[in-house]
Amino acid sequence: MRIAFAGAGYIIHVHVRAARAQKDVELAAVAVRHPDKAGPFARKFGIENRYETVERLLQAGGVDALVIGTPNFLHAPQAIAALEAGVHVMVEKPMAMNVREAEEMMEASGKSGAKLMVAHCWRFDEDVNWLKAQTPRLGKIIRTKSYGVHTNWGPAGWFTQKALAGGGAMADMGIHALDTARYLLGDPQPVSVYARIGTFYRDFDVDDTGVAMVEWENGATSYIESGWWQPHSDGPEAATQLYGVKAFGQLFPTLLKVPNPAAQKVDVIKSGYRFPRRVHCPQAMYNAQMAYFVECIRENRPPVPGGPEGLVNMKVIEAAYESARTGRVVGGLNG
Ligand SMILES: NC(=O)c1ccc[n+]([C@@H]2O[C@H](COP(=O)([O-])OP(=O)(O)OC[C@H]3O[C@@H](n4cnc5c(N)ncnc54)[C@H](O)[C@@H]3O)[C@@H](O)[C@H]2O)c1
Repeated sequence: MRIAFAGAGYIIHVHVRAARAQKDVELAAVAVRHPDKAGPFARKFGIENRYETVERLLQAGGVDALVIGTPNFLHAPQAIAALEAGVHVMVEKPMAMNVREAEEMMEASGKSGAKLMVAHCWRFDEDVNWLKAQTPRLGKIIRTKSYGVHTNWGPAGWFTQKALAGGGAMADMGIHALDTARYLLGDPQPVSVYARIGTFYRDFDVDDTGVAMVEWENGATSYIESGWWQPHSDGPEAATQLYGVKAFGQLFPTLLKVPNPAAQKVDVIKSGYRFPRRVHCPQAMYNAQMAYFVECIRENRPPVPGGPEGLVNMKVIEAAYESARTGRVVGGLNG
């Protein structure tokens, strides 16, 4: 399988390492705005074919799949061009700038039959999947609490420009918290969102601080925090807690707290995974994500997270921004 890459920045380095870890996968080409600057990157990974645009890369042909890790405003046009050319796509989160673009991407995938995966990476994390396997022990999950927060740090450049990024910390980090909560809840549909979002720590036209409350069709409520440059977070970068009627479960450290009335105590069941981690976003998580993308293509299966999961996240994020702007609850998301 010949995989190409759009972008040569932080996340594409991670994806290239992940692709290199797969069997019978060739690093076929890279499209990056300044191909000359991508020289060291391409040489390091032995990628011979370098193009200025995804369109030129597609014209040259000979690739089966494209991994998109460019600024958010390029996700939809690059994905649609690839999908229309019959090339499978894995696109970074947020999948697009808004709901309309996300729907257009799904339409392009539907028409050509090329697969569309959205890189909601936490679905491939071993701690997250340990907790997911334990959720039957929690009973009905009433509420979740998650955050995606950078403390005393935040991204720069295109991330902080609305025209290029679409949104700030809510679109960048809140979406991880949102998708992880939704995955652990079993992917319910959203009903309504109320959010307060603003910019308090730096001077740019996107948000650095947010809280959102999401009501789900199954009756659960998710509380989501997003942030860059925050003075505190409850733990490492991103984590989630699940409050069930029978027990509590959480990530990082990953464990359950199960009341044991007979013994008049609470049993703490640990995942056994190392905490704190050496790095919060381990390469192994991205390797598992890439392995799944390749498997879906080889076995002709629709990837999950795909367009539908990415679209729900875009709907919630877009509604959160609308709620913050209007001061109202935005409902009707499941209609
Ligand atoms: N899932 C995760 O853990 C994770 C982590 C980081 C970033 N991301 C996502 O990945 C995407 C990229 O983020 P990043 O941190 O790698 O950004 P980055 O700024 O490090 O890299 C962006 C790359 O896109 C290239 N680029 C810019 N304009 C281009 C164009 N017109 N055509 C082709 N290439 C162009 C740049 O040259 C650069 O190589 C974002 O959507 C971000 O949200 C996801």
